[in-house]
Amino acid sequence: MGQPALLVQCLLAIHFALIVTAPVVAQEKIELRIDVSTTGAKIDRNIFGQFAEHLGHGVYQGIWVGPNSKIPNTRGIRNDVVAALKAIKVPNVRWPGGCFADEYHWRKGIGPQRVETLNPNWGGVIEPNSFGTHEFMDFLDQIGAEAFISVNVGSGTPQEAAEWLEYLTTAQPTTLSTERAANGHSAPYKIAYLGIGNESWDCGGNMTPDYYLSQLKIYSRFVRNFNPTQQTKEQMLKIAVGPGGGEARWTEWTEAVMKAWQNRQWSWDINGLSLHNYTVVRWPPAFKSVGFGETEYSQILKSTLEMDNLINKHSAIMDKYDPEKKIALAVDEWGAWYAPLPGSNPGFLVQQNSLRDAILAALNLNIFARHADRVRIANIAQMINVLQAMIMTDKGQMVLTPTYHVFKMYAPFQDSYVVPVLFNAGTYTHGDITLPRLDAIAGKDTAGKLWLGITNVDPNQAVEVEISLTGINAKSATGETLTAPKVDSVNTFNSPNTVTTKSVSAKIQGRKLALRLEPKSVTVISVER
Ligand code: AHR
Repeated sequence: MGQPALLVQCLLAIHFALIVTAPVVAQEKIELRIDVSTTGAKIDRNIFGQFAEHLGHGVYQGIWVGPNSKIPNTRGIRNDVVAALKAIKVPNVRWPGGCFADEYHWRKGIGPQRVETLNPNWGGVIEPNSFGTHEFMDFLDQIGAEAFISVNVGSGTPQEAAEWLEYLTTAQPTTLSTERAANGHSAPYKIAYLGIGNESWDCGGNMTPDYYLSQLKIYSRFVRNFNPTQQTKEQMLKIAVGPGGGEARWTEWTEAVMKAWQNRQWSWDINGLSLHNYTVVRWPPAFKSVGFGETEYSQILKSTLEMDNLINKHSAIMDKYDPEKKIALAVDEWGAWYAPLPGSNPGFLVQQNSLRDAILAALNLNIFARHADRVRIANIAQMINVLQAMIMTDKGQMVLTPTYHVFKMYAPFQDSYVVPVLFNAGTYTHGDITLPRLDAIAGKDTAGKLWLGITNVDPNQAVEVEISLTGINAKSATGETLTAPKVDSVNTFNSPNTVTTKSVSAKIQGRKLALRLEPKSVTVISVER
């Protein structure tokens, strides 16, 4: 580890020590100390990735309405959704699943004649396959994101996956690339990420680590990306199935994959290990997504902070086999998973999205940022109409969720460099739950501008923060804050701006900034020199 990385680690350790030893009494003012001359790892823009599975109305109705729909669309893809997603700068989209991916056969979703199949995982509905490879790539093109394709390891074959990648990426005039051209795309597509299976320990085939490893090696070897522009630069990154929790079976899984990787031969390799972790408290999901109070608010936030322990646990195993951190931890499914909304199809995973989810999203993004050296990709589940969505649609209507606003506010952190923030978080207590009252991250963007993201978890008290800056002469500091009247406030089609942002500015007091954070709020400000 180089000197700057070591320093960042030390500062982060101090930061967490301060949180742990914080007194139980609520504070009136919290001081943040930021030295801009110290930067850590890059906050990879891909931690702001999305996940779009063929599940409920995530793809059909959420993205795809078909070219003949009255809903304004471009080649079948909703214009309103595309515009909203462009505004949050989606870096990558994981598709087609999830559990769905291990039953997906790509040839059924290309060409003029689509094959109708079933979607047994998610409600047993008919899968029309009208949104297939070309439609997905067109969608990515429209929103400006990169492809994260999950190939079918569970019920497919290495040959099927290899042919899909040849179809997608080769520039040579093979039968498959000729077919791709006949279907409307002569140029090879770029595929940024390849997911080799999904939850292969469960819905992806209930495999043991050894069985999965034998499959992983075969898929890694034969599922190639032929795109000439990706041979030396921007190479496709291969993500292996990783753990789904912190218990022994998951640490054993991480050990097995990482050990095999350390002893790998030339013929196979991976670049990432996935981690799936939902904020659910217990299975089956029973927490309400709306119509709850402070008890459920604090329980869910306590549970979501477990993400940090989970990453620490698996990172420690990865560090043993990969001290240079070549393998990314890809948190490619995360978010809140609540009880289905009454009256909805339980297989469609429909839930509301409240201010609590906005705070939950900010806390998780902060955790990923603090682990930026290892966590280099993450995908919130899921993008539209499913679980912790950015967007909800109903026929021609669309509403942006509180989580959407956090992703928009956090967009400037994409590819910025971590600047350590030292603070005593204080505590917020409700019943028998005590949480850090405040959380904060800072990042320096490529233009050298400093960005701060600060969350006041306390739903009852505002927090006055005093920010001491070293290495920067602040002229002004302005930004946006997101809050709402209640912890379970939501945006609806009839009332789309209940949870929305408003402008804030900090007072400059010499080398310090003073800012008041409203209760239960997420704030992002930038500092002008
Ligand atoms: O996101 C919903 C499901 O959760 C995914 O299909 C699966 O991978 C996970 O169990």
